[in-house]
Amino acid sequence: MSYLSGKHFLQIPGPTNVPDRVLRAMSSPTIDHRGSEFARLGYEVLEGLKQIFKTSSTVVIYPSSGTGAWEAALVNTLSPGDKILMFETGYFATLWRNMAVKLGLDVDFVSGDWRRGVDPAVVEEKLSEDKKHNIKALAVVHNETSTGVTTRVPELRKAIDRARHPALLMVDTISSLASIDYRHDEWGVDVTIGCSQKGLMLPPGLGLNAISDKALKAAKSSRLPKSYWDWEGMINDNQSGFFPYTPATNLLYGLRESLWMLVEEGFENVFARHHRLAEATRRAVKAWGLEILCLNPEEYSNSLTAVLMPSGYSADELRELILKKFNMSLGTGLGKLKGKIFRIGHLGDFNELMLAGTLSGIEMGLALAKVPFSKGGVTEALDYLSRH
Ligand SMILES: Cc1ncc(COP(=O)(O)O)c(C=O)c1O
Repeated sequence: MSYLSGKHFLQIPGPTNVPDRVLRAMSSPTIDHRGSEFARLGYEVLEGLKQIFKTSSTVVIYPSSGTGAWEAALVNTLSPGDKILMFETGYFATLWRNMAVKLGLDVDFVSGDWRRGVDPAVVEEKLSEDKKHNIKALAVVHNETSTGVTTRVPELRKAIDRARHPALLMVDTISSLASIDYRHDEWGVDVTIGCSQKGLMLPPGLGLNAISDKALKAAKSSRLPKSYWDWEGMINDNQSGFFPYTPATNLLYGLRESLWMLVEEGFENVFARHHRLAEATRRAVKAWGLEILCLNPEEYSNSLTAVLMPSGYSADELRELILKKFNMSLGTGLGKLKGKIFRIGHLGDFNELMLAGTLSGIEMGLALAKVPFSKGGVTEALDYLSRH
């Protein structure tokens, strides 16, 4: 491929664009991870992350991708053969289910059409039927990155409480953390799973767990094998700002910087910005006459929008054309959605003019690929942005 001039537009729903401030922070020399300077960094990022998860409880940071943080949540709290309730909201929920099966858990996987979030009524029904409390945990994906659907976690909490069920609640916030409002303590979540490469504006490489006291108690009797992922050693060493093995020092410099940036902007402003840019995107898609994959407007994702292609047209050919012509990467359809949808990432370090460029690239791409659509999506989005 010949040189593509100008800045690359990385509009996949993560990894997201890494701001220059974070890149510069990461370029500092690596320090001794057993020295006092590191301990200060360790404390600072662990405390800072608590504000992001909205928790006063425990947070741990692994040098891992998000998948590792999924595994940590399961192996630290559960035992072989334990029953766990999971929901087929999309590709990532399915991968997490596959992991739970491999780990020897007994998974009740509620089927879904990949166009909606978890239904609180189903949660209530399943838990109310479970009179003997065999279900030990409920694991859901807050923002399904494969579909652009956001599950309403507070509604799930209410459903669990109505059923008076003691199951642990585990929530994957990999593509919602620091982009969409999330409250670990207030929503009574026991383990929240996050990672670095989306709303936190970092490269991939950090996996996160926020852990309630109830989950810490469950960890005492959990019997799934664990060593690298064991919370105990991690939490013990974290008390003095250290890690039980070599941490990803330079990513932690980046994390400290991104946490400062999020505090400077203000969390509420971060969420409002994601909402505005997402709403402008949705208006553009509707003006093009294309269909948003998410069926329920109450569950529209503010991190990404998944767009269905008209039948007979390949989303991947469109993406390829846009990459070659306009130097922009859009998200591919995953699993059974391959070729049928493209995903527009609008999370992380992102603003109005970047969105204008993104939508312009898509509108030009649709015309070049001769996809049947109506022009004017960009104008619709700009109009919305200049009024709100
Ligand atoms: C919602 C969700 N869960 C889990 C994962 C897996 O994370 P990773 O690829 O960092 O292991 C992803 C990755 O995009 C995701 O979007």
